[in-house]
Amino acid sequence: MNKVKNRILVLSGKGGVGKTTVAVNLALSLALSGKKTGILDADIHGPNVPKMLGLEDEKIKSKGNFMLPIEHKSKLKVISLGFLINEKDSVIWRGPMKHNLIKQFVDNVDWEELDYLIIDFPPGTGDEQISAAQLIGKITGAVIVSTPQKVAILDSVRTIDFCRKMNIPLIGIIENMSGGIFGKGTIAKIADENNIPFLGCLILDKEIAESGDNGKPFISDNSLSSDSFKAITNKILGACKNG
Ligand SMILES: Nc1ncnc2c1ncn2[C@@H]1O[C@H](COP(=O)(O)OP(=O)(O)OP(=O)(O)O)[C@@H](O)[C@H]1O
Ligand SMILES: [Mg+2]
Repeated sequence: MNKVKNRILVLSGKGGVGKTTVAVNLALSLALSGKKTGILDADIHGPNVPKMLGLEDEKIKSKGNFMLPIEHKSKLKVISLGFLINEKDSVIWRGPMKHNLIKQFVDNVDWEELDYLIIDFPPGTGDEQISAAQLIGKITGAVIVSTPQKVAILDSVRTIDFCRKMNIPLIGIIENMSGGIFGKGTIAKIADENNIPFLGCLILDKEIAESGDNGKPFISDNSLSSDSFKAITNKILGACKNG
């Protein structure tokens, strides 16, 4: 992993807010713009990255002691527990086993040279996240994803606090599923109050949900959401000094 220039975590305190959606679209957007990019799925209980990229039937091969990441047609390199287990298997592992797997994803994957590695975190700010963050090494920064409701906001404030206590630089926060039943505009305020950059909004959009289910990230469409997301991506890139 020492040939990886920028390591970006995507995280949230609350589950189901769109971390994997953001991580996959960010990684693909970078790969499509010609940057050497990888995505590491650090969610062991819900490894959804392969499904969202349409790679769920792929299996990992190895070369010597190293696993070879699966290559998406965009050249994006992908590693996930999803490539090593059956889709319907649950993973009933305690902390040390999860720690070891993430360690292998960091140390025993042939990532080669990468401009960006996007790391999709499981929800929360507990043992698993502490362990994963420590294994990643030098982290460029964290992108926090939140939905606009009050319950999500509280978890996001805790996630900001988690990053500060762990000395993880904060790239900023995204308001996902903005508009409609969840409300909108609350996350920009939270960003301001907590002195972190606001990266932008992604609306609650049926096409985004379908794109995840179909394994075709929405960033490749010419939609309003892909335009908003490109603006978000540019802000994230602006925060990476090793681009
Ligand atoms: N802006 C959006 N509009 C509509 N649906 C969305 C949007 N963002 C994400 N989704 C959908 O919401 C569901 C949850 O998203 P996702 O899996 O990315 O969340 P997550 O934070 O990674 O969840 P987990 O905490 O379980 O890892 C998915 O079905 C996804 O397609
Ligand atoms: Mg996820």
